[in-house]
Amino acid sequence: MSHKVGIVGGDGIGPEVISQGLRVIKAAGVKLDTVEYDLGGARYLNDGIVLPDETLDEWRSLDAIYLGAVGAPGVPPGVIERGLLLKMRFQLDLYINQRPFKCDSHDFVVIRENTEGTYAGEGGFLRKGTPHEIATQGSVNTRMGAERCIRHAFELASQRRNHLTLVHKTNVLTFSGDLWQRTFDDVAKDFSAVETAYNHVDAACIYFVQDPQRYDVIVTDNLFGDILTDLGGAVSGGIGLACSANLNPARTGPSMFEPVHGSAPDIAGQNKANPIAAILSGALMLDFLGESDAATRVRAACESCSKVEGSTVEIADAVLAKL
Ligand code: IPM
Ligand code: MN
Repeated sequence: MSHKVGIVGGDGIGPEVISQGLRVIKAAGVKLDTVEYDLGGARYLNDGIVLPDETLDEWRSLDAIYLGAVGAPGVPPGVIERGLLLKMRFQLDLYINQRPFKCDSHDFVVIRENTEGTYAGEGGFLRKGTPHEIATQGSVNTRMGAERCIRHAFELASQRRNHLTLVHKTNVLTFSGDLWQRTFDDVAKDFSAVETAYNHVDAACIYFVQDPQRYDVIVTDNLFGDILTDLGGAVSGGIGLACSANLNPARTGPSMFEPVHGSAPDIAGQNKANPIAAILSGALMLDFLGESDAATRVRAACESCSKVEGSTVEIADAVLAKL
């Protein structure tokens, strides 16, 4: 059976690392029926197109989307982020951003809420450009949004080491933090085998560096999850290894798989980027497509190559050799 996958190589190093990911998936014996989409900062600079609604509608019938990185110098902040990546996450209801971190010393997964919080874009300007201007940027937290995310995290923890940590800032964010904490406590009643913990996000930053072994699964909101997962990458062998899945677990449409890193325009087109994050994101896609055997083999090959140095193609060659 072949899976229908939309490919968005995107900008900078995106296309280079995705083409290596596709090479590895093919070598693992999985057939993909791919459709390429030319989207990202470069496309926007070219003709002003970011993500047409017709494209989004076309995507609804795909099994998955495999994305490299989007963002290019010269594009104003927010155009591609909000217009492409966040539009995709929100419109396709990819409410879970799952980011695993594994290296010699630790193995944990961050579940980041992916459709709400400060990312929802609530707020605006008053008197913009005047000395009395005001900017507000709200955080949207629904019981439904927090609950479905927390439930997913508990389910994952019960398939792993039965430990789940809520990360927030309940001592200061007394409205959203309270909603998250109460929701967490309520959902916990359905998972009596899972041991729970709570960390403030600032303390979690220290534990990520000094004692990451304490974690199994972490659940947190959109912005804390964004920041923590860059740190997670940095303490787990580097952002060049960090992969992610943007999931619609309800499967009402495709899920999207992308490395955590950005488009790195400074090294684009030089065969320098580490393709492991993209390859591992491909393995997460294989898991979600029901190809768990191939996913396990790809992951094992990547793990034994996590310290290999060399060009983009050389690192991918090393993974292929292990495979
Ligand atoms: C990420 C990225 C995005 C985010 C940006 C590019 C909008 O940093 O996937 O972590 O903030 O979510
Ligand atoms: Mn980020």
